[in-house]
Amino acid sequence: MKIAARMARLGTESAFEVLARANALAARGVDVINLGIGQPDFPTPGNIVEAGRKALADGHHGYTPANGIPALREAVAADILERRGVEVDPERIVVVPGGKVTMFFAMLMFGEPGVEIMYPDPGFPIYRSAIAFSGATPMPIALHEEDGFSFRADEVLARITSRTRLIIVNSPANPTGGVVPKVELDRLVAGLERHPHVAILSDEIYARMVYDGEAHASLMAYEEIRDRLILLDGWSKTYAMTGWRIGYGVWPEGLAETATRLAINDHSCVNAATQYAAIEALTGPQDASARMIAAFDERRRVIVEALGALPGFRCARPKGAFYAFPNIEGTGFDARALQDRLLAEAGVAVIAGTSFGDAGEGYLRFSYAASTEAIAEAARRIGQWLEREAMPSIA
Ligand SMILES: Cc1ncc(COP(=O)(O)O)c(C=O)c1O
Repeated sequence: MKIAARMARLGTESAFEVLARANALAARGVDVINLGIGQPDFPTPGNIVEAGRKALADGHHGYTPANGIPALREAVAADILERRGVEVDPERIVVVPGGKVTMFFAMLMFGEPGVEIMYPDPGFPIYRSAIAFSGATPMPIALHEEDGFSFRADEVLARITSRTRLIIVNSPANPTGGVVPKVELDRLVAGLERHPHVAILSDEIYARMVYDGEAHASLMAYEEIRDRLILLDGWSKTYAMTGWRIGYGVWPEGLAETATRLAINDHSCVNAATQYAAIEALTGPQDASARMIAAFDERRRVIVEALGALPGFRCARPKGAFYAFPNIEGTGFDARALQDRLLAEAGVAVIAGTSFGDAGEGYLRFSYAASTEAIAEAARRIGQWLEREAMPSIA
């Protein structure tokens, strides 16, 4: 068999590989604490599950419009108005099976050989994978630990060329928990006025998980770029719905139709019952989601303190999402070796920073979607392991 050459350019998400290895160890009876996978450890709130169940009982078993049922797109528009203060025509919203799909569609629309797409490094691994798959050249945007893992707008703007088609922004971010300060977004948007050929994909899937009393700064709020902005958001993280597979994109005028055509070619529509559950998520009581996010905030304090106390670790305090991204250079291990050995020898699953790009060397990603007891125990195990194994320089 001969398959298309582009398949060799498709990357992957190592969090799923580490999860498989952690599960295999657990199946052999090894006690593994999993801080690897990026999904809430809470169940979907009961009212949402009930809405999905009711939709099935009520006979919602058929195809829906490919871009999503109108009541759902209206609920999304109302949510965007409430949380981002922007009025959006529901016709520009395309509901898809997960946040990832808007990302992939954007790469299919903008990427082709000869063009450049900029993406955050370290960043969600699917950005680079999907850019390369499209044939476009992936251009990493450096994020800086000393800036709370933000980009510097001046650096981003300086790297734009006539070949740049799209810039991906992700705030709050996976894997760093970093939040781009509003002033940096202001600078980026102001600079983009000089580059009207560049579109922006703003991945705001962690928009509700911003801590320390700060408000989420959305790129949607900038009128100047609204005609070339794609907003990516969804339900997976906010409502603990990763397995339901639903997300949405808000597309610039004209591109929603293209995204809908991609949906028709790819998956027809999102599972109907899931769409009804998603309406309940947005319009029903928000207290379960709020409690979950408050729990993440509490765990964030616990994990930053616990990791910061480990020899050779330095842990910035993340402002968003549910990840900590400590610098581990002081341990003398590279990220991949530490990931593998902590899983095999300490029973703690975490992800090497290099899984998120070359700039992730020297870091590990910890997902704190786990109980405070599990986090404390993981830190204790890592501390013991480091005492035994780490280089003499830090002993
Ligand atoms: C930054 C970022 N964007 C998008 C997604 C995709 O979310 P979904 O599960 O809804 O496809 C994730 C999931 O981990 C993510 O971390």
